[in-house]
Amino acid sequence: MSIAQRRILLAVTGGIAAYKACELVRRLRDLDAHVRVVMTEGATHFVTATTFQALSGEPVRISLWDEHGEAAMGHIELAKWAERILIAPASADTIARLANGFANDLLSTVCLASAAPVYVAPAMNQQMWAHPAVQANMETLRRRGVIQLGPDSGDQACGDIGSGRMLEALELREAMVASFVDERLRDLKVVVTAGPTYEDIDPVRFIGNRSSGKMGFAVAEAAAYAGAEVTLIAGPVGLATPPRVARRIDVRSAAQMHDAVLEATAQADIYIGAAAVGDYRPATVAGQKLKKRDGKGLTLELSENPDILADLSQRSPKPFLLGFAAETHDVAVYAQDKLKRKGLDMIAANQVGGGLGFEAEDNALSLFWPGGEEALPRASKRTLAQQLIVKLAERYRAQRG
Ligand code: CTP
Repeated sequence: MSIAQRRILLAVTGGIAAYKACELVRRLRDLDAHVRVVMTEGATHFVTATTFQALSGEPVRISLWDEHGEAAMGHIELAKWAERILIAPASADTIARLANGFANDLLSTVCLASAAPVYVAPAMNQQMWAHPAVQANMETLRRRGVIQLGPDSGDQACGDIGSGRMLEALELREAMVASFVDERLRDLKVVVTAGPTYEDIDPVRFIGNRSSGKMGFAVAEAAAYAGAEVTLIAGPVGLATPPRVARRIDVRSAAQMHDAVLEATAQADIYIGAAAVGDYRPATVAGQKLKKRDGKGLTLELSENPDILADLSQRSPKPFLLGFAAETHDVAVYAQDKLKRKGLDMIAANQVGGGLGFEAEDNALSLFWPGGEEALPRASKRTLAQQLIVKLAERYRAQRG
């Protein structure tokens, strides 16, 4: 599972690396995580609460004695709200106070009152980090189950060179993501297709469709976070390969996608067909650019492409098959029909248009499987992909154990 919709309490303490915590909030929000920021008094000398409030979209808490803050979400509620507590940067003072179980400010109190795993990203001068007092405090925390992230070594803001530099925002985010990786699809091989296909007419023109590939890429990412070994077969899209995806194969046409899928699924447990595969291709591809035929019009003859899902459903043994259906009307009727006609185990249907579906950031899905259905209401594609994978894993386990 990725960190979409996960609740991360970021505690920022007094150190120059607090500026990197701003970037960290952005990067966590990129993945749809909910982030609330708690600052120590010391941290406010480096970065303002307004900065974190703007970046997280949530009120920032600093003091235990803030009446407004306590009335909105008290420190105990905040402690219960958090699924992870990440202290970044963690100063020598904060590490010492946590090691000794202090509860004399908001951060230390929340840490004591929370059952969430605590992650500490130390950031301080190399001489301070090497000091036996700091090392002993850190050792105490580690023994108690606190997870230490970094520090890195290299140039320091103070001019020294050595160990004590806070990890970069993306490294800290990856640690948060890894902390949520679950076992739902552990050890399963999953093949995902995504994006459109392009069917060439001549060397410069093609027939394509408006699929952006975002939903399929989000599904591949969510499957990988659920522990699967993912092969992503992508049509022409300008998207980066999601983290943790084991293999990516780029194709252009439906025929190429068909061949790549058949090969990749030979050993696969699950196939997810999120690509918008072109149903037809020009019967012949012109070797040279077609010239305009003044006023005469042009008729293209099209041949039908192979149906990837239908072919897979003829296999024995066949992988668990999840298809997608993008429809402009009568979504449920068409989706149920495709479920049966293509011999699928599950189908995810969406309405195209009205700010949803192709080229959009948000989507909404209706899931159908033999004997059941469930609606996943409008959300970002990443959030939906995560919910879809939870449901898929449930159906897969119910069917195959
Ligand atoms: N699909 C496929 N091979 C094709 C066409 C579609 O595997 N040649 C898969 C898609 O990846 C998707 C599902 O079939 O998972 C449904 O695609 P869609 O285009 O909605 O279905 P079609 O069978 O093409 O039906 P229609 O275009 O008539 O709606």
